[in-house]
Amino acid sequence: MPVRPLASEATNPAVAPVGDRRQGGGTPAGGIPGAGAPLPTTPSSAAEFLDSILQTKSELFRGSREVLRDSYVPSRLPHREEEIRKVAEILAPALRGELPSNLLIYGKIGTGKTAVVAQVRQDLQRRVGSDPKLTFVTVNCGNIDTPYSLLQTIGNTIAPTEAERIPTGWSLDRVQAAMRRLMDAKGGTFLLVLDEIDRLVSRKADKDNVLYTLSQINTELEDARVGLIGISNDLKFTSELDARVRSRLNEEKILFDPYNAPQLQDILRDRAKEAFRDDVLDPGVVERCAAYAALENGDARRALALLRLAAEMAERDRAKRITPDHVVKAKNRLEQDIIVDCCRTLPPHCKILLYAILQLYERRRAGLHTGEVFDSYRRLVDRLGLPPLTARSISGYIGELETLGLVRATIVSRGRGGRSREILVDVPLSETIPALEEDPLIAPIGKPKNRGQLLLTNFDNPNRTGPF
Ligand SMILES: Nc1ncnc2c1ncn2[C@@H]1O[C@H](COP(=O)(O)OP(=O)(O)OP(=O)(O)O)[C@@H](O)[C@H]1O
Ligand SMILES: [Mg+2]
Repeated sequence: MPVRPLASEATNPAVAPVGDRRQGGGTPAGGIPGAGAPLPTTPSSAAEFLDSILQTKSELFRGSREVLRDSYVPSRLPHREEEIRKVAEILAPALRGELPSNLLIYGKIGTGKTAVVAQVRQDLQRRVGSDPKLTFVTVNCGNIDTPYSLLQTIGNTIAPTEAERIPTGWSLDRVQAAMRRLMDAKGGTFLLVLDEIDRLVSRKADKDNVLYTLSQINTELEDARVGLIGISNDLKFTSELDARVRSRLNEEKILFDPYNAPQLQDILRDRAKEAFRDDVLDPGVVERCAAYAALENGDARRALALLRLAAEMAERDRAKRITPDHVVKAKNRLEQDIIVDCCRTLPPHCKILLYAILQLYERRRAGLHTGEVFDSYRRLVDRLGLPPLTARSISGYIGELETLGLVRATIVSRGRGGRSREILVDVPLSETIPALEEDPLIAPIGKPKNRGQLLLTNFDNPNRTGPF
């Protein structure tokens, strides 16, 4: 299924904490209570229910299922030994109090970039111990909207007391000066990790050239020095940078290749040993997760998510073992979740267009002509009381739906009538249509069941008439 994978399944805080190596054990969190093991008593309140989940031992998981989550930093990163060595070699001068070269790390999603830097960070920090002369600051730029918030976040990570934190509402120049003051007050070398650095550029958060400010900050610091480590899964983002910034950031560059299936198997086996009890994995489970993820760009995050979901599917079935069938179910679930998330984030007219296509396709189960898709879209916008977009804009949106892997347009030959474009649907109708109908925009034009619910709500608000 050609649906684009999600960039990240975890909700990343802007500033990542020092990745502590939590080992297996501890309290099971999230997921489903243990398979087969009955709950101690019938819980009568949410609190009792949660307590009973926490007390129930999973028959599959050894301890915390967090071991299979994105936030967990494993103690070993198989097949990244060379990359770890290179990153450590570039950053090692910081241990001697020297300023390392700036470093850019590139690679597709889920290739271990963040994990490798977190591991090298831990190792360097262990070496320096409590010596304050090396300070790591890691910022996830995916959660940063403005140059202001980037500089404020960096400053506040360093601020030793609440009173010295940078408030909101200052001018950008004042925030910059405050951040420099905080750095100089602490002194020593700062290694500033800008994870997902390309997001600063794509979101125009760098319109005031915050990367330029950071890349030349050493000329303005007195007692501190800053080394930059940029991480990106967009291999081309530097072409959008100012030439001076590009050359400063690019002092050293490391490319992470996607994992292949055997490498993903090794990664999964390592994690599975920590996550699961002995002998709960059927032969073929790890291989299947690895094969699916290898097809999806060699993404280790996807491989781990499949394994975790497969285990949760097994628990749901109250099975004592995880089987390759659970992996297939997990894959379908993951794809549905991605499709539903993807549909939710479409622009309004694109959502209506998709709904028109799905409704037609549900009835026809065959290729749709663009003309009838336009007509159906126009009828829907008309019922919503919205002005329709032009045929040209709609064609553009069909192209976007195609890029997202939700529909497929093919050219069909019509004999003497020439050639025309037909649209086919690439998503499961039974999940996607109800997901779209839950959307407040689509609900008024959805199936009668949903419309009925909305009309009842409308009675509560007699001032509003028509679809809403
Ligand atoms: N070699 C490896 N061994 C063990 N786990 C790994 C390895 N590589 C990646 N992982 C795990 O896969 C997941 C994704 O890795 P990571 O977040 O480092 O990818 P990334 O390259 O930063 O992806 P993105 O570009 O989407 O941010 C994490 O849970 C990480 O621990
Ligand atoms: Mg990352």
